[in-house]
Amino acid sequence: MARILDISFCLLFCIVILPENTTSYRSSSRPNVRSDFPKDFKFGAATSAYQTEGGWDADGKGPSMWDVALHNNPSLVLDRSNGDVSGDSYHVFDKDLKIIKELGLDFYRFSISWPRLLPNGDISSLNQAGVKYYNMVIDKLLANNIEPLVTMLHFDIPDEIQKLGGATNPIFVDYFASYANLLYKLFGDRVKNWVTINEPRLFCVYSYGNGILVPNLNTSGVGDYLCGDHMLKAHAKAYKIYQDHYFQQFRGRVGIVLEAVGTYCRKGGSLSLNDRAMEYYLGWMAHPLLSNKGDYPEVMRKEIDENSKLEGRAWSRLPKLDQHWIDLMKGTCDFLGLNYYSSQYGVPLNRTDQFKPPSFEQDVGLQLFADPSWPAANSWLTSFPKGLRDILNWIKSQYGDIDIIITENGWADGGQLKDTERIEYLTKHLQEVLNAIHIDKCNVKGYTYWSLLDSFEWVSGFSERFGLYSVDIGSPTKERTPKESAIVYKNIIRNRKI
Ligand code: BGC
Repeated sequence: MARILDISFCLLFCIVILPENTTSYRSSSRPNVRSDFPKDFKFGAATSAYQTEGGWDADGKGPSMWDVALHNNPSLVLDRSNGDVSGDSYHVFDKDLKIIKELGLDFYRFSISWPRLLPNGDISSLNQAGVKYYNMVIDKLLANNIEPLVTMLHFDIPDEIQKLGGATNPIFVDYFASYANLLYKLFGDRVKNWVTINEPRLFCVYSYGNGILVPNLNTSGVGDYLCGDHMLKAHAKAYKIYQDHYFQQFRGRVGIVLEAVGTYCRKGGSLSLNDRAMEYYLGWMAHPLLSNKGDYPEVMRKEIDENSKLEGRAWSRLPKLDQHWIDLMKGTCDFLGLNYYSSQYGVPLNRTDQFKPPSFEQDVGLQLFADPSWPAANSWLTSFPKGLRDILNWIKSQYGDIDIIITENGWADGGQLKDTERIEYLTKHLQEVLNAIHIDKCNVKGYTYWSLLDSFEWVSGFSERFGLYSVDIGSPTKERTPKESAIVYKNIIRNRKI
């Protein structure tokens, strides 16, 4: 996916020393002490519905906003492809099951396509073929001792709901809550680990803010905060429904997946995570759910209120949470799913253009770039494994010892079977997870490689491949072939050791 990060900028500025209140966290640099994983540590791999399922209109499925946008405007995607067929898991799930078993995964993270189950987004439109498909997937996983980790929403909002404004309309909260209720009712007897929403911050900023992702609305600095507000409320309601009506019977867990980008600034010559940036990038979603105090991070509240006033607005672009919602949101994660790909440096933005137009990026106020010495897969994905460990420590320092599952971490290339860089990325990141567990005592319970197989990479189409398995996208049978990284991951899982 194209994300904003300007590597060339670093050539000019990466040794800049920041004057602001930055230096916060950097985990110790003690050398790797152990290469073995705790006995209860679990390994998985992930996919998402729009990216892998295909069958976009099969058996009564309704369109998601991605289906409609890419059919109407193929040029939104680099290679003009879309997710109509992709790996075709809807028709050939047994091929996925085979490779999941081959890898020896403990769990498989996949998402449910909301419009496959509810073609118009509302529970009045239940599609039995969708129910049958997900029953089949769940039952086959369980029959093979593989736990399903199920995401309810991974970017693909039903088009009927998007027509109402999608996640910027407050009614989204109720649509999502009743969809979540249905999922518990249909699958809760077997699914014990639920993720409500994948990466709400990135989704809101990219879909409703800067317009990079569908529905490309460009409601920069306004729509993204409305979306974030509704995503948090939707998550909290879905959590509460589970606690009130299903937990007693099913004893499962409900969490959320947040993505974190280690954002570093230099101070006094040393590099450390910039607290303020971390509050924006991770705290925006994490603080209301995981902190003792609840609500949005204070720094966001103060700065976005001030910026909004300077822009001459009648109210703040960051919605206010009342006490009812603050209380409802607090503590609504039985575990935290953490997606980590990359880190970045930040230096203050040139403030002269600050308010034209307003945006999340302008509010953060940092120009971001990667260190040219970090291996780079593309413009946003660079390898800095220590960033993962630092973030795990930052989370521990802010929110305590909540169970953490790394729900995504992965490397993109052109899809070759000899994928040395992916192996390097995977093993180095796993070593940092081990360091975080053994040295820093971070409570990491599992790791998920993204992705199980090559799939539709949003606006990059099939030009970037993240899979452990290659998929012959052009062939009707969609054969899956292991890359070298699949063999390496399989051995790590078997030996529980790097
Ligand atoms: C998303 C995935 C995506 C991956 C790589 C994550 O932010 O959850 O859907 O494929 O990044 O871009």
